[in-house]
Amino acid sequence: MEDTGKEPVALVTGSSSGFGMLICVELALRGFNVVAGIRRLEAAGMLMEAAEQAGVRERIDAVRLDVTRDTDVEQMAEHIRSRHGCLDVLVNNAGTAYGGFIEEVPAEVWLAQMNTNFHGMVRVTQAVLPLMRGQGKGRIIQMSSISGRIGFPGFGPYASSKFAVEGFSECLALEARPFGIDVVLVEPGAYGTPIWEKGFTQMSTRKGSPYESMLDKVLAFSRKSASQGGDPKEVARQVAHIACMKRPAFRYALPRSTRLTIRAKGAVPGRLFQRLLAIVLERS
Ligand SMILES: NC(=O)c1ccc[n+]([C@@H]2O[C@H](COP(=O)([O-])OP(=O)(O)OC[C@H]3O[C@@H](n4cnc5c(N)ncnc54)[C@H](OP(=O)(O)O)[C@@H]3O)[C@@H](O)[C@H]2O)c1
Repeated sequence: MEDTGKEPVALVTGSSSGFGMLICVELALRGFNVVAGIRRLEAAGMLMEAAEQAGVRERIDAVRLDVTRDTDVEQMAEHIRSRHGCLDVLVNNAGTAYGGFIEEVPAEVWLAQMNTNFHGMVRVTQAVLPLMRGQGKGRIIQMSSISGRIGFPGFGPYASSKFAVEGFSECLALEARPFGIDVVLVEPGAYGTPIWEKGFTQMSTRKGSPYESMLDKVLAFSRKSASQGGDPKEVARQVAHIACMKRPAFRYALPRSTRLTIRAKGAVPGRLFQRLLAIVLERS
C-alpha cells in the first residue's frame, strides 16, 4: 500500500480460527492495526493468545461481527469510522463449508451457506465501501477457493457460494477501480484449518440414498485433503503480502498444485476435465 506515514488499518472477518486468525497476526506483524471481526467474542481467546505470542496483542481490536447480522455489520463500520478513522484493507475471510449432494441438501442449508459465504461478504463490502471511496483508496482481499474455480461432487453448496464470490469480485474490481480501490481474489487449495472438521468431513446422505457409494469416495477425498492440507500460515503470509504490495495481481491461487489444476481446467475440454476429476475421486 502507498506509504502515507499513518499506521494502516485492516479489517479481517472470521478471525477466531484458521486463516482469519493467522492473517490478523501476520498483518499486525507488518504494522497494521487490525480490526478482528469475530462471530462470538467469547471465541477470541485463540487469536489473542496467538497475537500475544507474536508480540502484537496491542494491534488487535476484536469486534463482534457475525456477517449474517445487519446490525453487527453496521456497528462494525461505525466502530471503524469512530475509532480508527480509516480502513486500508478489508479481508473478506469468514466462511463455512456445507457439503452434501445437490438433490438432498435442504433449502435451509443452501440459504445458510449463501448467507455466510456470499451475502455476508456483500454486506461487509457494502458497509466499508463509502469509507474507502471517501479516502480515495483501499484494498479488498476476497477469500475464495479452488472451489470458486472448479466444481466437485459433494461440494455443491460451498462451490456455488465461492463461484458467486468470484463473479461478485470481477464486477466489484471494475466498479471500484475509478475510486482507487482494488480487489484481489485468493484461491487456496486444501489447507489444514478447522473448516474441514466443521464441514466436509461431516457430510452425510439420506437413509437409502442413491448417493451412498459416491459419499464414501467424497468423504475419503475430503479426509485425505484435510489430513494432507498445507500449512495455513502460507496463505496468511500471502494475504499479508498482498495487503502490502504496490500493485497486486487480481488472482492468487496456492499452493502450486492448485495453480496447475486451475490452469489444466482452462487448457482441456470441459468433458475431459470432468473425466479427470472422476478418476481423482475414484482413486481417493
Ligand atoms: N481451509 C481450507 O482448505 C480452505 C481452502 C480454500 C478457502 N478457504 C476459505 O478460507 C476462509 C477461512 O476458513 P478456514 O479454513 O480458516 O476455516 P475456519 O478456521 O473454520 O475459519 C472460518 C472462520 O469464519 C467464521 N465464521 C463462520 N460463520 C461466520 C459468520 N456468520 N460471521 C462471521 N464469521 C463467521 C468462523 O467463526 P466461528 O468459529 O465462530 O464459526 C471462523 O472464524 C473461508 O472463507 C473458507 O471458505 C479455506
